[in-house]
Amino acid sequence: MGIIRLEHVFKRYDDGYVAVQDANLTIEDGEFLVLVGPSGCGKSTTLRMIAGLESISDGDVYIDGDRVNNREPGDRDIAMVFQNYALYPHMTVRANMGFGLKMRGVNDNIIEERVKDAASILSLEDLLDRRPKEMSGGQRQRVAVGRAIVRQPAAFLFDEPLSNLDAKLRVQMRTELSRLHQRLGTTTVYVTHDQVEAMTLGHRIVVMNKGVIQQVDTPLALYHQPVNRFVAGFIGSPAMNFIRGLVGEGNFRAGEFTLSLPSEVTRGAVTLGIRPEDLLLAEASSSHEFSVRVDVIERMGNETIGYFDFDGQSLVARLAGDVALSPGTMTALAIRDANWHLFEAGDEGARIASGHAERHPR
Ligand SMILES: Nc1ncnc2c1ncn2[C@@H]1O[C@H](COP(=O)(O)OP(=O)(O)OP(=O)(O)O)[C@@H](O)[C@H]1O
Ligand SMILES: [Mg+2]
Repeated sequence: MGIIRLEHVFKRYDDGYVAVQDANLTIEDGEFLVLVGPSGCGKSTTLRMIAGLESISDGDVYIDGDRVNNREPGDRDIAMVFQNYALYPHMTVRANMGFGLKMRGVNDNIIEERVKDAASILSLEDLLDRRPKEMSGGQRQRVAVGRAIVRQPAAFLFDEPLSNLDAKLRVQMRTELSRLHQRLGTTTVYVTHDQVEAMTLGHRIVVMNKGVIQQVDTPLALYHQPVNRFVAGFIGSPAMNFIRGLVGEGNFRAGEFTLSLPSEVTRGAVTLGIRPEDLLLAEASSSHEFSVRVDVIERMGNETIGYFDFDGQSLVARLAGDVALSPGTMTALAIRDANWHLFEAGDEGARIASGHAERHPR
């Protein structure tokens, strides 16, 4: 079992800084939960409070129903994997993986067996007699994961375990971690600031900003129904476009652009959000067009990323295939399938409404 619960958890550092504010969260048994958010938002602090490496200023943390606030890290039945691996340099892979068990007085035969199992899961069998400095970054990271596996803990905690690896290895290790979780089914809490890692690994994702949990949801729910502008802008790459404008007489207006809205949307200053993949080059006849000046065109072969200027606001579009557009010229963009979101004004404005072709035919 491995159910982790946070109730009204706060972290106030000695200098008075509040790094985590009123965190409430239940991580289900066997769940892969990802904590994501910009640098400094409190991800590591949250994880370290679960692990017992950081004291809890207020609130409670429960593991399998037991309040663990005052329990030592070693008595919490969880294993943590760090970004910097934290391997013992003078020990072999075998000794590194078995060390935690040895300290607990586990029988040598059992250690040998568990290390062998973990090595086979992680393809480390041929490296068991090497020392950390004789291995690549990816291999070291696997050893760090192996050391967590042999403990057979109730939960794994990962703090940006892949961020020291090059891009290709990171993608490969990401898939391996997914496979590992499918195989072991151990409750996992995984910290990253990489939203692709978050989207691909997480059953559910917790988005944090400035110490506050913004939204806890499945990857696709975060993508389609972000609670506010912060979440909308954080999930998705390139990031969602935001266009400042006004609502009046049932329409959103920004410069020459207008969009008709459902009647419940009231008047005032708002932000319209459109994902880059929901912008396309307008047909001559299409309505709801943005007249834009082409700024920069990036051709990737399979798609073209276009940067445009709309009335002094910048827009980015992900256009299919290779598109012939020249910087400095004018063109028009339209919204695909009427996919849009409307937020209250301001960087953290709440989502007011969303559109989709099925509900609002063009
Ligand atoms: N010992 C400390 N004393 C005071 N403030 C701290 C201390 N440790 C961390 N902080 C602050 O708490 C905030 C949260 O830090 P934390 O390490 O949890 O962020 P993070 O989300 O993990 O960021 P990153 O993605 O950069 O690792 C930061 O603003 C940080 O400066
Ligand atoms: Mg961190």
